[in-house]
Amino acid sequence: MTSPTKPTVYIETYGCQMNVSDSELMYGTLAAHGYEAVSGPEGADVILVNTCAIRENAETRVIGRLGELKRHMGPKTIVGVTGCMAQRLGPRLLKTKHVSLVIGPDSYRALPALIDGARRGERFTATDFDLEEHYEDVVARRFEGVKAWIPVQRGCNYRCTYCIVPFTRGSERSRQLADVVRETHEVVAQGLTEVVLLGQTVNSYNDGTHDFADLLRAVGAVDGIRRVRYTSPHPNDFSDRVIAAMAEVPTVCEHVHLPMQSGSTSVLKRMLRRYSREDYLACVTRLRAGIPGLALTTDIIVGFPGETDAEFEDTLSLCREVLFHDAFMFKFSMREGTPAERMPVEWTVPDDVVTERFNRLVTTVRGLSRDGNLTRLGLKTEVLIEKVARDGEMFQARTRDFKTVMVPAEAGRIGDYLMVEITGTTGATFTGTPLKVERKMLPLIGSRE
Ligand code: 5AD
Ligand code: SF4
Repeated sequence: MTSPTKPTVYIETYGCQMNVSDSELMYGTLAAHGYEAVSGPEGADVILVNTCAIRENAETRVIGRLGELKRHMGPKTIVGVTGCMAQRLGPRLLKTKHVSLVIGPDSYRALPALIDGARRGERFTATDFDLEEHYEDVVARRFEGVKAWIPVQRGCNYRCTYCIVPFTRGSERSRQLADVVRETHEVVAQGLTEVVLLGQTVNSYNDGTHDFADLLRAVGAVDGIRRVRYTSPHPNDFSDRVIAAMAEVPTVCEHVHLPMQSGSTSVLKRMLRRYSREDYLACVTRLRAGIPGLALTTDIIVGFPGETDAEFEDTLSLCREVLFHDAFMFKFSMREGTPAERMPVEWTVPDDVVTERFNRLVTTVRGLSRDGNLTRLGLKTEVLIEKVARDGEMFQARTRDFKTVMVPAEAGRIGDYLMVEITGTTGATFTGTPLKVERKMLPLIGSRE
């Protein structure tokens, strides 16, 4: 029930799924203090922008958006910046006059008190790291229809030279397995059947007693869970135990998002990824041997300092060798304070070269993916209906191996699982025709109307 006297809060989320999950925790924290969530900034008492710092353009968008939000502010509206950009820039963000709160990812517990302070006209920056903080007592307010993001690890202990994340999210720490399992039971009770376990290098999960294999087995066995996914793993943390757990637990989906970043051993070395091209391929081989029907997707960075034509060709050739189902591709973006900043300026790859390589990579990856997708026509597979498609007429559903399939609206409802035959592809997504479920013939009793 809504009460007219409740203060309202709107959170706008940018960046990765960890941020989506953090926003759900912030909504949860504020709901426990009497706030009501609203779906837009107009008229909200509190507006929070949960930000991403991974590339410069993510930050530029937020700065632009902060300017726009001014239009939606009343005289008493409180605006706060949270997330990785808040952690990275700290008090520098308070130079924007209408921002009164800057709160990093380990300080969300303080939100209600800080908002109260801001109401009295004060302005705050809260960016201390807290290695104990997992927000265990906060009940996340979930808005996603069919799946739950569950954070299992915060921070990162790798130090890839391009990456800002270790600076914005601090050192790696894992939640206790029992807490993750408890939350999984809670999301089942809310009617959700899919969970996505989140961590910066999620397969290095270790709570002191249990590793990631234990976690997959425990979460995958929760009654009512039909699909378990996770993102993102690091290639160096795929133990045989994890691969065996993936293969043996029926609810764990046959999909791994395995960030590659580059196909060149020398670039990988400069990135401090701690694996070579051959190590990456060996990891792919082990995963495919252990998990039948496995789909692989990846992240790739183009134009890292010093990248030569030959090194870039190695990236293209590794894509041809692995045959990813899909890839997120990024132009390198220099982040302040990362080790890449200390590399010789002569190593900078000119913008036009980066753009040309990026376009070639996109064409190559999309082409390979389209060729693979054409071979899937006629397959019969299970999909989960996730949401109404953008055209408003069909539903968007997903296979276990993370392919998007459009199904007709009359096929079922959001949250339903159904068997479809893959009947068409645009190259990137599919259309599916629902299969008739065979029902046992019922004996006819009495007469037909
Ligand atoms: N520039 C470009 N892409 C980056 N990523 C991380 N840092 C940078 C950067 N400085 C990409 C990586 C990572 C993904 C989440 O974002 O590919 O896997
Ligand atoms: Fe960044 Fe590397 Fe950690 Fe991923 S593993 S968050 S790329 S430092």
